[in-house]
Amino acid sequence: MNQQIAPPVLAPLPRLPASPTLESSAEVVVIGSGAAGATAALGAARAGRDVLVVTKSGLGAGSTTWAQGGLAAVLDATDDSWDEHIADTLTAGAGLSDRTVVEQLVRQAPEAVQALIDLGAEFDRDLGGRLALAREGGHHRSRIVHAGGDATGAEVQRTLDGSLRAAGVVVRERSIALDVLHDDRGCVAGVLIAHVDNFGRIEDVALVRSSAVVVATGGLGQAYAVTTNPAQSTGDGLALAWRAGAAVADVEFVQFHPTAFWQPQSSGQQLLVSEAVRGEGATLIDGAGGSVMRGVHPLGDLAPRDVVATAIALRLREAPGGIGDHVFLDATSIGPAMVDRFPTIVARCRAAGIDPVTEPIPVAPAAHFACGGVRARLDGITSVPGLFAVGEVAATGVHGANRLASNGVTEGLVAGHMVAIALTKTLPESGPPVLGAASLAVVDAKVRTDVALAMSRWVGPLRDGDGLTAASAHVRAPRPSTSLTSLAEVEATNLLAVSELIVHAAQRREESRGSHRRLDCTEPRDEWRKRIVQRWDGSAVTTSYEPVGGAGL
Ligand code: SIN
Repeated sequence: MNQQIAPPVLAPLPRLPASPTLESSAEVVVIGSGAAGATAALGAARAGRDVLVVTKSGLGAGSTTWAQGGLAAVLDATDDSWDEHIADTLTAGAGLSDRTVVEQLVRQAPEAVQALIDLGAEFDRDLGGRLALAREGGHHRSRIVHAGGDATGAEVQRTLDGSLRAAGVVVRERSIALDVLHDDRGCVAGVLIAHVDNFGRIEDVALVRSSAVVVATGGLGQAYAVTTNPAQSTGDGLALAWRAGAAVADVEFVQFHPTAFWQPQSSGQQLLVSEAVRGEGATLIDGAGGSVMRGVHPLGDLAPRDVVATAIALRLREAPGGIGDHVFLDATSIGPAMVDRFPTIVARCRAAGIDPVTEPIPVAPAAHFACGGVRARLDGITSVPGLFAVGEVAATGVHGANRLASNGVTEGLVAGHMVAIALTKTLPESGPPVLGAASLAVVDAKVRTDVALAMSRWVGPLRDGDGLTAASAHVRAPRPSTSLTSLAEVEATNLLAVSELIVHAAQRREESRGSHRRLDCTEPRDEWRKRIVQRWDGSAVTTSYEPVGGAGL
């Protein structure tokens, strides 16, 4: 089933206002330096490839560093099995995960954790010296490896950053990839990279010639007014791959973390209160002390993330006096052990005036993870020859309609290794880049706040047809383009493009499934057990509805 629709506002792009001033080349350019990008870059460099890593701020500034819970992997075969991890992942994915890809992920996860330990990562251990395994929402077993209690991502990133440096991989910091260039046959031939000064101004634009570009830019949480994602998560890689003609899938499934620390009137990145806190016994209660999750799901407070976020959002709608804005996570049953197990969360809550050891933590759902993205195989291959996508930016079929907790960094590591192997094979030969195809119409940076408010209002954990129509009008409203002078304009442009893709898919999916919940069609529908795939061929956008596990990209 194919459908032609009007092109998104940003599809017809004028020429890039700035001409490239510097030219260089690399066999492989990796855009992004989180778990997925760093693993891919490291593996390719160790195999002898000449690799350039391009990163927007610096090493360690992306989402991986913020991951608290950990890495899901079957490491205790006496109490867990691949089949159970596969089953939990498929259940969380609500009928849209691709079983074959999930199996690949689960089987390779233990090896990926071991590879990180071999690089020097130090994970928490029990008194017997075995890896300490925690439980999170949607998991029937304790299988989450963690570090520093609730600082797992920081340890993963520290390990990979050190390894990249030790391997001598060239890293271009404070740089953003603007656009991928093709040769005259449509193969990737290079990438335009803007270098940004300390004030966020574009200093110069360089053309780096390469026939393999790996997009590993993470997520798009900043498309929303309230998110657990850092300021860097502006959907850059998804927007860039879309402009390059890559198929994009499942983008309506933006996962909302149920328990972001709530503070009045705050916006932007919020403190995550890990699901592992519920794994240790904390429960969700409303303002009157009633359980939020009682009777909602057999796993109660440890139900999959989409179920918990939806239950909270529904409870907030029912709050006396209209729409409430937070519930509470009561972790007082954990007692003083909370301080050792979750040191970051305790310190940050205390700094904000709440002591989780003795009082409930105010929490609310916040945009957390893009389950969809650039349609890719687990080894990163996309529909565009020479363009790879890995990590959160990729839609590999693992997460389906809702990612299982702590499968995110695991996927980044497993897929990162697979991309590295793919990059060691013969790379496509590309001809000279066609500069005429280079283009980026940027919008005024002020657009960003306006779009984020619209996305939070109408495209949040609970959606309906009228709200999505309003959101569509908002994100598709004509926006005058401006010349490229700053990083903020590029980010606003990318956020507008990804918001438009999300709204378009969310409008079409007339059912509730996983992290896409509609108040006007509250149940999943069998006929919607399909992936929504959007493509732009340079002149028109096509939307197709494709079976799970289909062979195409
Ligand atoms: C958490 O610690 O709750 C987040 C982990 C994840 O998003 O996988």
